[in-house]
Amino acid sequence: MAALVQQEDKLAMSSDELLEAQLELYHHGLAFVKSLALKAAIDLGIPDAIHSRGGGGATLSELVADIGIHPTKLPNLRRLMRVLTTSGVFSVSGSGDAACYKLTRVSRLLVSGGLSPMVVGFLYPQYVAALSDMREWFTDERATAMSLFEVANGRTLWELAASDPTTGTALQAAMDADSRFTVKNLLTDCGASVLSAVRGPLVDVGGGHGATAAAVASAFPHLKCSVLDLPHVVASAPAHEGDIRRRRYVEYIPPADVVLLKWILHDWKDEDCVKILRRCKEAIPSRDAGGKVIIIDAVVGSASSSQGIISKETEVLFDVYIMNIDGIEREDHEWKKIFVEAGFTDYKITPTKGLRQIIELYP
Ligand SMILES: C[S@@+](CC[C@H](N)C(=O)[O-])C[C@H]1O[C@@H](n2cnc3c(N)ncnc32)[C@H](O)[C@@H]1O
Repeated sequence: MAALVQQEDKLAMSSDELLEAQLELYHHGLAFVKSLALKAAIDLGIPDAIHSRGGGGATLSELVADIGIHPTKLPNLRRLMRVLTTSGVFSVSGSGDAACYKLTRVSRLLVSGGLSPMVVGFLYPQYVAALSDMREWFTDERATAMSLFEVANGRTLWELAASDPTTGTALQAAMDADSRFTVKNLLTDCGASVLSAVRGPLVDVGGGHGATAAAVASAFPHLKCSVLDLPHVVASAPAHEGDIRRRRYVEYIPPADVVLLKWILHDWKDEDCVKILRRCKEAIPSRDAGGKVIIIDAVVGSASSSQGIISKETEVLFDVYIMNIDGIEREDHEWKKIFVEAGFTDYKITPTKGLRQIIELYP
């Protein structure tokens, strides 16, 4: 009893502290509004509208005219932009009617051809619906063998993407956008050494429509690249990406010097990752003969990704986001355990400034 009273005393706070705590609590509770304001800006085409005005930026009335917003909504647009400038998505200079909005390095990535499909994908209704109610999944006996996504939507994300073209298209658009951006900045710039010495064929497992393989092939023309993915994904791939060979992957990975797994293993539980990696190992030659698996995924808490609150928070947010489909964002020691179990002898992590690192895995 005495210990309990002591504990309560320690928690006693002044009114100021309580008000600050309430503010902090509401700040957390309202964090989703930031995401939704960002999506609204994309849906309205605000990044493109500012971009098309050139370096001078755009005032609210210019945005209203360019985007086709009803003039009565101008004050509401100002409120939306206030959230987005406060969070650094856009910048603003001047005030009142002269306030001028510009792109920041963040919103530059949302201009057409950039990462908007990925941000829209984060907020995909079925995905958000599953995350909105985790109680049943955490507590119900019947939900133990199911992913959060399955509990909410009655089927897995991959089943939904296969049967519902809208979901399939949105998923691929998100992945294509991420791949184009990531490969350019990750593999062909900071991680160029990872691919420049590769001579033999490369197979991108779970490579979607082939955006990653196409970007790799264009940066390293000597590499013969092929893509494996599920039949409906291969069938819906556009035909314009050079001579990238697309194959349906279900059980077998064809022989290659390098197997690429970009943003694949974080979708799967440890035991599934071990199975996938064993298949990859069967497909590649020895290390001396140039065999390796390249994994592009987060390494939670890795030296470069643990810089600052943004990277720390994004890593753990992504982990819960991917928990939706039974995926996991892993720390170095968790990766190591999987690699050892799959029979690999060594690995090397090349750190990057972004969310994901490059892992080279050797047989
Ligand atoms: C998160 S996406 C990553 C796509 C791509 N690697 C990228 O980063 O843009 C996962 C991919 O794995 C594919 N996939 C899911 N299950 C698969 C399976 N059993 N065999 C092959 N591909 C599969 C999906 O169709 C999807 O294209």
